[in-house]
Amino acid sequence: MVFSIATFGLLLLLGFCLGDDFGYDGNHGPSHWGEEYHTCIGKHQSPINIEEHNVKNVSLPPLKLIGIDDPYQSFVTNNGHTVMLKINESKVIMLSGGPLGNKVYVFEQLHFHWGQNDFEGSEDLINNHSFPMEMHAVFYKEDYKSMNEALNHSDGLAILAYLYEVSPNPNVMYEPIVEVLPDIETVGSEKVLREPLMLRKLFISDITTMQDYFTYNGSLTTPPCLEVAIWIDFKDHLRLSHEQIAAFRNLRSTEGDKLTHNFRPVQSLEDRIVLHNIPREQNIPRNIPPKTYHRFDEHSGQHNVEMPLSIIALAVLFAVILFAI
Ligand SMILES: *[C@@H]1O[C@H](CO)[C@@H](O)[C@H](O)[C@H]1NC(C)=O
Ligand SMILES: *[C@@H]1O[C@H](CO)[C@@H](O)[C@H](O)[C@H]1NC(C)=O
Ligand SMILES: *[C@@H]1O[C@H](CO)[C@@H](O)[C@H](O)[C@H]1NC(C)=O
Ligand SMILES: *[C@@H]1O[C@H](CO)[C@@H](O)[C@H](O)[C@H]1NC(C)=O
Ligand SMILES: *[C@@H]1O[C@H](CO)[C@@H](O)[C@H](O)[C@H]1NC(C)=O
Ligand SMILES: [Zn+2]
Repeated sequence: MVFSIATFGLLLLLGFCLGDDFGYDGNHGPSHWGEEYHTCIGKHQSPINIEEHNVKNVSLPPLKLIGIDDPYQSFVTNNGHTVMLKINESKVIMLSGGPLGNKVYVFEQLHFHWGQNDFEGSEDLINNHSFPMEMHAVFYKEDYKSMNEALNHSDGLAILAYLYEVSPNPNVMYEPIVEVLPDIETVGSEKVLREPLMLRKLFISDITTMQDYFTYNGSLTTPPCLEVAIWIDFKDHLRLSHEQIAAFRNLRSTEGDKLTHNFRPVQSLEDRIVLHNIPREQNIPRNIPPKTYHRFDEHSGQHNVEMPLSIIALAVLFAVILFAI
């Protein structure tokens, strides 16, 4: 019995490894992904090079992130391709607004892409410029109930992309992650962070700079490269020291080598348009009846954020009362 369970486990593990054999070099590298995963040869692939002179300026309704100020127990995993961070709660961090309109997207995980040195590593490029690291925060559309189901729909995912620059000083907000990297060098290892994490500490926290971003429709940047993602690339950059970025390069890959780089080269834009959202500077007077101003004129002010929070607070209160009864 024990033996058969062990054998079954081994077969499962083997199956998992064989079905998951992409890498970033040689026969398993990005130029070969299309052989096994045909969707990687699609026409709306990511990443892309964003040419700032070739974008369409727009002013979308404000992008809203809910739940990033609450601390949640979090853990990081080395999955052989990247460092992935998840929170030990479900459906608590949500994204809506901007190109997503009033549809709600639920936080699933975030992970990183980096390069062999500080001159490369990001997946999307801006005016052909590469950054040393990029973070992807992946959200799935709440209507689809789960990440797996969302992958079946062209608007299934929304991914926030953050680009990094090298700074002389370490970014203390990232220390909780960087300090556990040595504990997850081997593939499949997992480590709970020392303290509950507030995601705002990893994200751009300023409400106005958060409204300055590029957005386009694209794909997952790893096999099976499904074209199901609405990308939101922030213009503002985050900062990490050279040592903090270098710590990621010590992780082991599925092949057992050091995972020194894990970014896919840029794919062609084809018929797509990249939008640039320009935050509105001036305030819209609050007493104007809604019908007199255009949808694009909505301002990214505080009251837009307060509304959903108060609704959530009410809902929680309601749930508590029901529970008590
Ligand atoms: C778009 O906005 C940018 C930054 O605000 C500006 O420099 C650029 O000229 C605008 N482009 C067009 C086509 O209006
Ligand atoms: C998540 O929390 C539960 C309950 O506190 C705990 O049993 C479980 O080990 C946690 N999982 C991780 C990966 O930390
Ligand atoms: C980026 O590179 C392409 C191809 O080399 C070139 O055509 C384009 O002008 C470059 N863009 C910028 C902004 O330098
Ligand atoms: C996604 O679609 C495939 C077929 O296209 C189907 O087999 C699978 O069950 C779907 N996944 C979910 C979670 O519905
Ligand atoms: C992305 O795709 C959706 C659905 O097809 C479309 O409505 C939207 O305009 C597209 N976004 C861009 C930036 O082209
Ligand atoms: Zn990614």
